Amino acid sequence: MISDPDVVGLLYLVTIVCFVIALRFLSSPKHARKGNWVGGAGMLVAIATTLLFEGIGNWALIAVGATIGTVVGVVGARNVRMTAMPQMVAIFNGVGGGAAALVALAEWHNEAGPAWDSTTSIVLSALIGSISFAGSIIAFAKLQELLSGRPIVFPGQNVVNILVLLAATGLGMAAVAGVHEQWVLWALVALALLFGVMFVLPIGGADMPVVISLLNAFTGIAASATGFVLDSTVLIVSGMLVGAAGTLLTLLMAKAMNRSIANVLFGAFGQVQAGAGTARADDGRTVRATTPDDVAVQLSFARKVIVVPGYGMAVAQAQHDVRQLADILEGRGVDVRYAIHPVAGRMPGHMNVLLAEANVPYTQLSEMDEINPEFAQTDVALVIGANDVTNPAARSDPGSPIYGMPILDVDKAASIVVLKRSMNPGFAGIDNELYLDSKTTMLFGDAKESILKLISAVKAQ
Ligand code: TAP
Repeated sequence: MISDPDVVGLLYLVTIVCFVIALRFLSSPKHARKGNWVGGAGMLVAIATTLLFEGIGNWALIAVGATIGTVVGVVGARNVRMTAMPQMVAIFNGVGGGAAALVALAEWHNEAGPAWDSTTSIVLSALIGSISFAGSIIAFAKLQELLSGRPIVFPGQNVVNILVLLAATGLGMAAVAGVHEQWVLWALVALALLFGVMFVLPIGGADMPVVISLLNAFTGIAASATGFVLDSTVLIVSGMLVGAAGTLLTLLMAKAMNRSIANVLFGAFGQVQAGAGTARADDGRTVRATTPDDVAVQLSFARKVIVVPGYGMAVAQAQHDVRQLADILEGRGVDVRYAIHPVAGRMPGHMNVLLAEANVPYTQLSEMDEINPEFAQTDVALVIGANDVTNPAARSDPGSPIYGMPILDVDKAASIVVLKRSMNPGFAGIDNELYLDSKTTMLFGDAKESILKLISAVKAQ
């Protein structure tokens, strides 16, 4: 047992330092694994210190909670598919917010008449924690396709949402002003949960990573407020680290899509545009389908090929086969590169993680700004399940919902081959001008199956 508060403070400082170092390591794929270990070690120190501090009781309850949490965490994290990672982050994040709200309710119940500063922390913890919990559950349900991934909207939605949030805030202010009734906090939590649900429903599935990151920031702030309630420095600081990291990531993602946070949250982005999915333009241009044999000839005789992976490659789990195809081409002297768009796929770094899983060397991966000038000297751009991030309308059509989003300049390549299953649009719900380009051919089918056919066809060359 530890009885000296200074020792506890020192051990908590070790945790905080570990978290800061972990964040530093996590910012580069090279050190990310180490970052995870350092963060985990810091968390272990914090948990052990908290449990060993004198005065902790209820060991049986703690053991049951810790066992359930550990089993769910380990089994969940080990079994999750890469494409399901965003929803796992959502659900784990929601649990953090829910925990903050529960602590607030318990403290509200335990304290006879808390001072205004303590009440403020309790209210913030309950309000933000509940929003984060409910919002994260809806984000999970959307990504898991338990709910429609498309925006769920109804007239007057934003007004209703604002009224619900105002009512919850009003109750919080009443609590801070001294109304210490049990129902006040319960009603606040109920309204905050309702707001969390309503706030995420109108947001499209592919915007969920941004929302999850924002809710993650909320959870951090709620945990920090809980730290004030429980007088725990480690919780205050680590909550703030999560809050800051989540906020920065949210802003980075919005910037990479050239969209404001308000547009992500209230724009109901991702509704399929009427007429999307057609293979013929009004001016008579049509898309041209191709065959694995034809593409194999193009690839084999190319000097330079740029692979452009997107969400479809993740869905098809084609990364290992893509690597194999690239290896074969490189063996024949073709210069193969991978172009990584910052928001390709459905989570930050999605393509980097998938390609790293397939042991593609980092040196072959190029960020958008670095690779864009190279498309003009490229013989074949091989687009594998990427759509919105290659749509030239982002550059040329001011009326397009994605106008202004930085894209990969795939259309500058000498020829473009697109691997996807159909003419269905990507996340933004709009047609892609690229498919009507006279230099573009479409290899329809599941990306993994198409790549496997390409491998056989290239080998047969
Ligand atoms: P999308 O534009 O969503 O397009 C993915 C394409 O993959 C679809 O057109 C789909 O066409 C195809 N596809 C799906 N399953 C496939 C399979 N099994 N085999 C072959 N193709 C398959 O993806 P993207 O280009 O990666 O762009 C990402 C989008 O998400 C952007 O709009 C971006 O703004 C948004 N977003 C991303 C993030 C992050 S952090 N990554 C965050 C927020 C929003 P078919 O159905 O015809 O096959």
